[in-house]
Amino acid sequence: MAKKILVTGGLGFIGSHTVVALQNSGFDVVIIDNLSNTTIDVLNQITDITGIKPDFESIDLRNKGKVKSFFDQYEVEGIIHFAASKAVGESMHKPLDYYENNLSTLIYLLQEMRDRKLDHFIFSSSCTVYGQADKLPITERAPVKKAESVYGNTKQIGEEIIQDSCTAYGINAIALRYFNPIGAHESLKIGELPLGIPQNLIPFITQTAAGKREVLSVYGEDYNTPDGTAIRDYIHVVDLAKAHIAALKRLIEKQNKNTYEFYNVGTGTGSSVLEIIKAFERANGVKLNYKIVDRRAGDITAAYADTTMANKELKWKTKLSLESALKSAWEWKKKQE
Ligand code: WQD
Repeated sequence: MAKKILVTGGLGFIGSHTVVALQNSGFDVVIIDNLSNTTIDVLNQITDITGIKPDFESIDLRNKGKVKSFFDQYEVEGIIHFAASKAVGESMHKPLDYYENNLSTLIYLLQEMRDRKLDHFIFSSSCTVYGQADKLPITERAPVKKAESVYGNTKQIGEEIIQDSCTAYGINAIALRYFNPIGAHESLKIGELPLGIPQNLIPFITQTAAGKREVLSVYGEDYNTPDGTAIRDYIHVVDLAKAHIAALKRLIEKQNKNTYEFYNVGTGTGSSVLEIIKAFERANGVKLNYKIVDRRAGDITAAYADTTMANKELKWKTKLSLESALKSAWEWKKKQE
């Protein structure tokens, strides 16, 4: 039986784009997704894009027995672990749900890797672990700070669990610390799903442009930045997906220098909220209705990546422009209407 790459949360926003990139790189993929924040149609869309239908198991990773029987059924060469709850605001109201879903599932997967001597684990982490970094751009040497949210804390604790597992059990793992993923695949068959109320800037922008929202609220104009609005590093989700392939190949080809490594995955360029609004208007020829409101609790002033390590060690760099990401986000949204 061909060895497969397990992608948990593989029907989600970043997961689905990574499955496409894996298949395009010649990997066989099996997806586990509990469909809590996506739809089964994404599986058909992935198949339409690549012509290859990934294996799919609708499993909730909180069910330890189901996780165990999955590994009885599939021979796994590597795991890319996306499945997690990720709404920062929600995490503050449901901490135990977040600790259970984001950490017990991680532990069950690592226990199977330990018991079956499996290797090559890629973890979906976040620049949130840095909080407000003291120096910009943010390098991997920046200290991990006390998380501002339960969500961010699950990523910090997750990284520590993985690091200790690598040390004790000889697993090789890489954590990718994402900055802000945006955009959609050029086919417009997959993109950021509209399930639930979005938390992030770009879905709020596209919903406002589509008339679903009357006005976009800009959370604060009194930050210590050139135009007063907060700065982030917005990376095209297709570039982000390809970083996972680069990381997986590094482990499979035994190029990693440590059993546990982590890399900042961004463009290296920061954009303020007002700059994103202007860029979106310019890229798509639309006018956005927005108003300045108070800051959102927990937001930091600025975060953008120093991509030196990812460029050098992963031999990966972003290729797609902010304009193309904002165009694809709008085209994707219009297609949903
Ligand atoms: C971006 C900027 C907001 C909405 C979070 C998580 C991070 C990752 C990405 C999961 C901020 C401003 C937003 C709006 C606004 N998630 N904004 N009006 O907070 O940088 O990162 O999502 O992995 O871990 O922390 O992303 O898109 O929510 O906000 O002004 O209606 O846009 O204040 O400055 P964020 P975001």
